[in-house]
Amino acid sequence: MTAKFTPRVFSGMQPSGDLHLGNYLGAMKRWVDMQNAGTHETVYCMVDLHAITVWQDPAALARSTRELCAGFIAAGIDPEKSILINQSQVPEHAQLAWIFNCVARMGWMGRMTQWKDKAGKNAEAASLGLFAYPALMAADILIYHATHVPVGEDQKQHLELTRDIAAKFNHDYGVDFFPITEPVIEGAATRVMNLRDGTKKMSKSDPSDMTRINMTDDADTIARKIRKAKTDPDPLPDNLGGLDARPEARNLVNIWAALAETTPEAVVEANAGKLFGYFKQDLAEIAVEKLAPIADEMARLMQDEGEIDRILARGADRARALSAPVLEETYRIVGMVGR
Ligand code: TYM
Repeated sequence: MTAKFTPRVFSGMQPSGDLHLGNYLGAMKRWVDMQNAGTHETVYCMVDLHAITVWQDPAALARSTRELCAGFIAAGIDPEKSILINQSQVPEHAQLAWIFNCVARMGWMGRMTQWKDKAGKNAEAASLGLFAYPALMAADILIYHATHVPVGEDQKQHLELTRDIAAKFNHDYGVDFFPITEPVIEGAATRVMNLRDGTKKMSKSDPSDMTRINMTDDADTIARKIRKAKTDPDPLPDNLGGLDARPEARNLVNIWAALAETTPEAVVEANAGKLFGYFKQDLAEIAVEKLAPIADEMARLMQDEGEIDRILARGADRARALSAPVLEETYRIVGMVGR
C-alpha cells in the first residue's frame, strides 16, 4: 500500500520541558541513524501545538522549543540532510488536522490510553485539544505522506490510529491518497524505564529528578544518578532470561546496549557475574562519554538564538514545499471550492 509513495520518515517530539535519556535512546538517536542511512528523506519536528494541549507558560514554551532544536542538532540531526521544523511554523499541519477531526470518531479517541492517563478522572476539565491530540499527530505524519515513523513504544497506539485515519479517509473518498504508515519501534531502548522504579517509564513528568537522566545533566550528575539507580544485590546472570523478574537490572542492561550500540544479550555475556556496583560504574562512564558532548553542544548552540530561528525558518520553507500540495489535493478531494 505504501509502494507508490516516496520513502519518507517523519517523527516529532514535544517541547515541554527537559529532554531525557528515554527521548534520546527511544527516538532521537534512531532518527539520526535513519537520516545517515540515506535510504529515506527525513523530516523531524518540534510539536509546539501538541505541547499546549496542557498549559505551557509562553516564555518557557519558546525557550523549550529552541532548546529542543538545539538538542536535535547536538544529537546529530543535520538541518541540511533532514528537514527540521517547528510545527506551528508549517500551518498545513493544523489545517489537515481539522479535516482529520472530521474523519476520526469520538470512540477511537476515547480509547487512547494516553488520553485516559493524561485526562485522568477529571476529563471534563481537560482541553478539547488534548482529546483531539492524536488527529493532529496523524496530520503531522500524513501531510508529508510519510511512510515510516520511528518512535518509542508509548506512541504505538497513536500510530495505529494514524493508520485507521488514513484508511478511513481513503475509503470514504474512494481514493488511494494517504499512505498506511509503518511504525518503526526497534532496538534495545524503545521503552527506557524510571531509574528508581523499573515498572514505570522514564518521563519528564515524574516529580523526582533522580528517576531520569536529562540531556542537560553534567557528567557528575549523570554518574551520580546511575550510581544511585535502584538495582538488586544479585550479580549479573550469564543470559538475558536471568533478568526476567528484575526490571531495574534489565533497564540498565538495555540502556548500556543502546548507548554502546550493541545488544542486551552481548552486554549480559560480557558482564556475567559482575556485581551491579561495578556494572553501574562502567555504565556511568559509557553514558558520560556519549551524553556529555551533546549537553555541551546544546549549551553552545543556545547562545545564538538567532541562528536557531534561521534554521527553523529555512526548515519551514522546505517543509511547505511538500506540505502545501498535499493540503491542496486533500481539499480538492474533500470538495472544497477554490482549487
Ligand atoms: P514525546 O514528546 O512524549 O516523546 C518523544 C519521543 O520520545 C519517545 N520516548 C521514549 N522512548 C523510550 N523510552 C522512554 N521512556 C520514552 N519517553 C519518550 C516517544 O516514544 C517519542 O518517540 N505524541 C508524540 C509527539 C508527536 C509525534 C508526532 C511523534 C507529535 N506528532 C508524529 C511521531 C509522529 C509525543 O508526545 O512524544
